[in-house]
Amino acid sequence: MDAFVIQGGARLRGRVRVNGSKNACLPLMAAALMTDDPVVLTDVPDLRDTRNMASLLESLGCGVQFDGEHHRATLRVKDEGQSLAHYDIVRTMRASVCVLGPLLAKRGVAKVSMPGGCNIGDRPVDLHMRGLRLLGAKIRLEEGYMVAEAPAGGRLHGARVFLGGPYGSTVLGTCNVMSAAALADGTTVIESAACEPEVADLAKMLNAMGANITGAGTPRMTIEGVKNLHSVEHQVIADRIEAGTYIMAAAITNGDVVLDNCPIDALTALIDRLAQVGLEIQPADEDAKSVASDDMRQSIRVGSYRRLNPVHVVTQPHPGFPTDLQAQIMALLCLADGNSLITDKIFPDRFMHVPELSRMGASLIRNGPSVMVSGVRELIGAPVMASDLRASAGLVLAGLVARGTTTVNRVYHIDRGYEKMEVQLQQLGATIQRVEGSA
Ligand code: EPU
Repeated sequence: MDAFVIQGGARLRGRVRVNGSKNACLPLMAAALMTDDPVVLTDVPDLRDTRNMASLLESLGCGVQFDGEHHRATLRVKDEGQSLAHYDIVRTMRASVCVLGPLLAKRGVAKVSMPGGCNIGDRPVDLHMRGLRLLGAKIRLEEGYMVAEAPAGGRLHGARVFLGGPYGSTVLGTCNVMSAAALADGTTVIESAACEPEVADLAKMLNAMGANITGAGTPRMTIEGVKNLHSVEHQVIADRIEAGTYIMAAAITNGDVVLDNCPIDALTALIDRLAQVGLEIQPADEDAKSVASDDMRQSIRVGSYRRLNPVHVVTQPHPGFPTDLQAQIMALLCLADGNSLITDKIFPDRFMHVPELSRMGASLIRNGPSVMVSGVRELIGAPVMASDLRASAGLVLAGLVARGTTTVNRVYHIDRGYEKMEVQLQQLGATIQRVEGSA
């Protein structure tokens, strides 16, 4: 298994382009199951997860031509005979569950493995099932699979669906119910829909395919079902989590970095917290704002001062602070002048990075869903173990600034969600190499 070996201390300088969003791309790819026509996606990140999704779709009779170099995928259903999402694939990528709604909507049947436990905590799918049942699906559990069927005639029906759960709404659950409702008979209203930009991007693409969805990006969405969807070419939104990670890489190394294709409109909570920390985020060029009128694709310049102020961070559903940036901001706050408090309200157990950061000299005290971070003067390089995608990203950030050498083992987690992270960071002047790891 590969590892990253990082010599800490280099100030990052230069320019990188943010890739297309992994979490937007996976449900967009799954939506190709909803039409017989080709679906063309551009800005598709070349990742383990997008490759896995391509394999899953192939196994469901959807041809996928993926040009990783040009970030372009063409997907077209050839055979609707196979509607089984096997455990072997679902266990490697929990997001496979987002084929459930599209399969049910188009084929009237789906058999999808129940996703198992995961490193970031308990991740049930009860809200997905509740929503789809309200649209008329019969869903039973059989030997670890959700076996779902539309009513006689093969079409679901519109309904009022409430998707709020104990930790807020559900992103992929909203994608599943929205996709299913797009081809159902009648009107569906989703209350407490997830407002994440990835949900809005899926709605945008489905509408371009002929669906009739309003309110995406707000807690109430209305979907008027249509009979068919047709072909589309769609550009995937930029990855707000990758952007946030590189913003914090610049911050932690006291660097000066320009990010192109940055979705600042989706990063308000991060930018608010980082302003408190003392970071400067400006349009990259004097007239950049007028050149790039799209706030989801801006060029921004991140500069930082040596002194970092402590802040309190609470993760929440969008537009709150994203749980997917919690590990990265923790790495940054390890070096702030004082005590910060970080609380994860989405995944209260998502703290696998805490003991590893402690091995690098961080001062962290965890109490339930919160971690008190007492700033230290420096972090010290160490071999550390990546346990999930974002925890690993947090450890890489710590390694960039730590004294000496940090080896982040098991970077296959990072390869799930960051395209060639080491190359992006090398381009900014970091001393980071991919090597064959020992663990
Ligand atoms: N939840 C339920 N019941 C459900 C579904 C979710 O109680 O049926 C709970 C979860 O346990 C969690 C909360 O609701 O406490 C939110 O989970 P959500 O369903 O929104 O998560 P997801 O859709 O499975 C996506 C991202 C995650 C990201 C979360 C939260 C994708 C492919 N994954 O997961 O991304 O952390 O939303 O924003 O979009 C990552 O990229 O590293 C990652 C884990």
